[in-house]
Amino acid sequence: MAEKLWAGRFSKETDSSVNAFNSSIAFDARLAMHDIAGSRAHAAMLASRGMISKEDGLDIDRGLARIADDLTSGKLAFDPQAEDIHMFIEAELTRRIGDAGKRLHTGRSRNDQVALDLRLYLREQCEKISDEIRQFSVVLLELAENHVETWMPGYTHLQRAQPISLAHHLMAYVEMLARDLQRIRQTRERMNVLPLGSGALAATTYPLDRQMVAEALSFDQISMNSLDAVSDRDFAIELAADLSILMMHLSRLAEEIILWASQEVSFIELDDAYSTGSSIMPQKKNPDVAELCRGKTGRVYGDLQTLLTLMKGLPLAYNKDMQEDKEAIFDAVDTVLLCLPAMAGTVRTMTINRENMAKAAAGGFTNATDLADYLVVKGIPFREAHEISGKLVATCISKGIALDDLALADYKKHSPLIEQDIYQTISIETCVRRRDLPGGPAPRQVQRSIELARTRLSSNL
Ligand code: ARG
Repeated sequence: MAEKLWAGRFSKETDSSVNAFNSSIAFDARLAMHDIAGSRAHAAMLASRGMISKEDGLDIDRGLARIADDLTSGKLAFDPQAEDIHMFIEAELTRRIGDAGKRLHTGRSRNDQVALDLRLYLREQCEKISDEIRQFSVVLLELAENHVETWMPGYTHLQRAQPISLAHHLMAYVEMLARDLQRIRQTRERMNVLPLGSGALAATTYPLDRQMVAEALSFDQISMNSLDAVSDRDFAIELAADLSILMMHLSRLAEEIILWASQEVSFIELDDAYSTGSSIMPQKKNPDVAELCRGKTGRVYGDLQTLLTLMKGLPLAYNKDMQEDKEAIFDAVDTVLLCLPAMAGTVRTMTINRENMAKAAAGGFTNATDLADYLVVKGIPFREAHEISGKLVATCISKGIALDDLALADYKKHSPLIEQDIYQTISIETCVRRRDLPGGPAPRQVQRSIELARTRLSSNL
């Protein structure tokens, strides 16, 4: 068992079951590099302000750099018996450089240290996740670009409603992802505050230069209340909330992909490389990737719930309960980083069945609204036009044909105002092209939103 760095006032060894119960190294080991970066910045500040000697400062810095190298190369392994990553690194440093190592923790507590490490780590993960979201957006944009004139039904209540294009449908997800990016960027901004200097809860008597440490670690600000800085985890909760919303978006797309790949719908075919077979049914090709993303959404919601519940009853300031924050937020981050590239690959490689999409768009009376609008232009009040259009739909249903195939004579039975131009007006293509407002599905509007989205992405937003 590693020697306890806090054992001074204790007369008994910790029970081995308590050691195991208490230890967090199994999951906080992933903070090692951030812990080291934070300690190097802290030590450099202590040395430059004369709280430790220059030599000790240099020894600490070199020692920590070597520990980082040795962890990376695998020369140094984490001690599973260590209490946590902070204790492990400090003990290893002292083992290597002696007394100077014991001076590192001057003016610092593990409470502000862990708050720092978690902010540094999550700040980096925000970047990684954002990169993945951008890459996925590009995949969606590229597909959209090729399908600005691929007609498909738009749905409400999963019933065919009005015709749109596949590009318009895909661009809806690009917009969702743009807001996800924005949320993560704003969360990162609020997260980017240095907690170091808050000590255990009541700051410290040493004249630490917090600004210097903040600059060294690229924080925008320093925290303004020591109790708050060591005891809130709202930045992790906020990120978990952002990731939950992101997963909700991915899950909706996953659900559509699953539906579209079904034989009943057959709008797409998944690539063999992104689907799986059945152990018993030889004909099966299953959309497992999309299904797993839909399923994993539940994990991330659970992580958010864990964090919220964990924090809700805690008195100020630090409580050991908060050690439980890590596995939850790590799991949320890991899950999202798994799902984004998997979904991107699925979308990039799927084949679009234009004919089936167009057939579905033409088949479900998706142009009935346009028929009503045609009558409105001829002077009929909308409510009445709606009624006439509905009756015409009923006629077509009884004949088993589409509105496009109804004879002009039959149209005239319902309204003498209907002329030959009705066929042109209610063609699926016209229906989409005429929805020509910003945000609408007309090809040139979708083209514009694709361009806007591209500009947004290329400026890294
Ligand atoms: N492993 C601890 C955590 O993750 C570090 C902070 C420990 N602080 C303490 N006062 N015991 O929260």
